[in-house]
Amino acid sequence: MNNHKRVIVALDKPDFTSAIALAERLDPELCRVKVGKELFTASGPKVVEALHKLGFQIFLDLKFHDIPNTVAGACRVAADLGVWMVDVHAAGGASMMQAARNALGSPGANTPLLIAVTVLTSMDESALRKTGIEGGIDEQVKRLTELVDDAGLDGAVCSPLEASAIKRRHPRLITVTPGIRLKEDASDDQKRIMTPDKAVSAGADYLVIGRSITAAAEPVQTLADIQQLLG
Ligand code: C5P
Repeated sequence: MNNHKRVIVALDKPDFTSAIALAERLDPELCRVKVGKELFTASGPKVVEALHKLGFQIFLDLKFHDIPNTVAGACRVAADLGVWMVDVHAAGGASMMQAARNALGSPGANTPLLIAVTVLTSMDESALRKTGIEGGIDEQVKRLTELVDDAGLDGAVCSPLEASAIKRRHPRLITVTPGIRLKEDASDDQKRIMTPDKAVSAGADYLVIGRSITAAAEPVQTLADIQQLLG
């Protein structure tokens, strides 16, 4: 894969204007962009349309987690927006993921990639245990990824720490990893983190990078530096 296109910049901005102002400084040949809950709640589909006009492929990161019928409908509408990738929470279960798969149809050129979040990168062992899951992060990621594969999804969102195990067990699945930090960055609310080059070496296909780029003094230069690091 072209290493440049591995980077998905999280446009975690509170409004349409600041998100588009940042996107206008980025080159759609060199990265993809992610629209998440904050931006989509503020701006709705018009931000997707505007980013498409700028030439970007979009990961619509709304992490659907609901009853199967509702998630299927949401995925269908997301596909109608023409986005490149959508996601659901694997914890929603097998039927929910199968409903999402059926709603989008078989993987293909005009079908968004459908991926599922395993365990959020902001969670550590203690936080996961407090939700009632006793087995630990690795076991939970393993169990959820089996469901993701069985449901015929295209990939899993995980931390870079779990990417190599997922690739080993499920070579068919793509891995999308948030929790990316440069050496000098604060970890913020993320707990399971890695630098971009190490994440790719560990088996990450796509890197979701937010604050390391968006909060940098020079976001464009920071993205260029990351891409240089990836070679
Ligand atoms: O700023 P930072 O690089 O931590 O941003 C990570 C982005 O990836 C955020 O938009 C967050 O919603 C998203 N994300 C995540 N963990 C997941 C899935 C998505 O941090 N498991």
